[in-house]
Amino acid sequence: MTKNLNYTPASMAQRASEQAIGFLIQQGIENADCLSLAAGFVDPLTLPVELVRTTAADILGNAANGQAALQYGTTQGAEHLRAVFRDYLTELEGPGSRMSQVPLSRLMLTTGSQQLLALASQAIFNEGDICLVAAPTYFVYLGVLDGVGAEVIPVKTDGDGMCPDALNKELQRLSDVGQLHRVKLVYVVSYHDNPAGISVSHERRPMLAECVQKWSTDHKIFLLEDAAYRELHYDGPILPSIWSFDNEDDHVILSQTFSKSFSPGVRVGVGVLPQELIKPISDLKGNEDFGSTHLSQNIVAEVLKSGKHHQHVNMLQKSYRIKRDAMLAAADEFFSDINGVTWLKPNGGLYVWMTLPDSIPTGFDSPLFKQATEVDKVMYVPGELCYPSGWMQRPRSQMRLSFGVLDAAGIREGMRRLATAVRTVSTG
Ligand SMILES: Cc1ncc(COP(=O)(O)O)c(C=O)c1O
Repeated sequence: MTKNLNYTPASMAQRASEQAIGFLIQQGIENADCLSLAAGFVDPLTLPVELVRTTAADILGNAANGQAALQYGTTQGAEHLRAVFRDYLTELEGPGSRMSQVPLSRLMLTTGSQQLLALASQAIFNEGDICLVAAPTYFVYLGVLDGVGAEVIPVKTDGDGMCPDALNKELQRLSDVGQLHRVKLVYVVSYHDNPAGISVSHERRPMLAECVQKWSTDHKIFLLEDAAYRELHYDGPILPSIWSFDNEDDHVILSQTFSKSFSPGVRVGVGVLPQELIKPISDLKGNEDFGSTHLSQNIVAEVLKSGKHHQHVNMLQKSYRIKRDAMLAAADEFFSDINGVTWLKPNGGLYVWMTLPDSIPTGFDSPLFKQATEVDKVMYVPGELCYPSGWMQRPRSQMRLSFGVLDAAGIREGMRRLATAVRTVSTG
């Protein structure tokens, strides 16, 4: 006889359920016949298949190298590999950067950057602690924050990124009501962000770093700088990282990934950690996997050393610049005569952020989403997913539009269909 026993998921699993990413993937499956302006994937045609094949063959072509690469690494990643990644970070930071002097013990190689976001959050938050985030922000990270039981407070963000004045004001308010002790982290996607394509301006970067230093009075407030889209830069000034302004060198966690600049499938990310986070994050990672994929790390390290990663990024920049321009041209062509529609022009990344009039909500249960997916056959990411779900004032009429996956003709057609859907619901 089968016993009918109950299983109740543990609280962390319960808090992780019903996240936006799950809905979105489900929507993608259910609407497979749609043109997708929703998927945040990189362009499959640009993935470095041949380069990974030849690099892996080179590594495995030598028995000793092959055996080393197929063995376990270490929890933080083998030291000689971290040295290669530090050279790369130094190159990104620019000549004279103190990155070249950062002890290798501060570097952590992770499974994509998502793992660093998750482990850092587990190391930093107790249930009920507070995280301040840009509004809008990377919605998958909102799920991570839910998972660790953090309270998320959005901070006013404009075309120059998170507003330092608003951040200061919010910290002052929390201090006034005796809640500053709960604030543990500020999270910022600093370059061409997901979802809005916004970069924090040069002027604001030191201000954000100073802000977390200033308000770290009785305890440390960290700033997590998620630089996932740093290399996908198409025009405009090359900006220094927020990390580079962390003069005390111990507030900013810098998170980089090779998912956007190379391949998400290799799952290689690298973080630079403040001293006191090394042990807790290593301990958590040790429990989870005691080291990310050593073979992938070897492959990425080889393409960094050979200069081929650099060539690959140049190619990506050219290719995505054309697609970004195609999306902006299509926005002009199809949306400029629809009243009250605006959009941002990103200097990099994979996304255009569009705002519709308040009268046209964009959520999964909105008439527009239904019209777009069921009739006009196009999908987008509803903007409201990119704000804390409990935030009542969150805007409901925005969309994240990705130019990552489709080619220029597909992007134009997707935008044409989307404009048709918007017109239909606004007149219907
Ligand atoms: C802003 C941002 N951060 C982090 C990630 C995580 O990517 P990965 O784990 O592949 O590095 C993504 C993925 O899309 C992202 O958009």
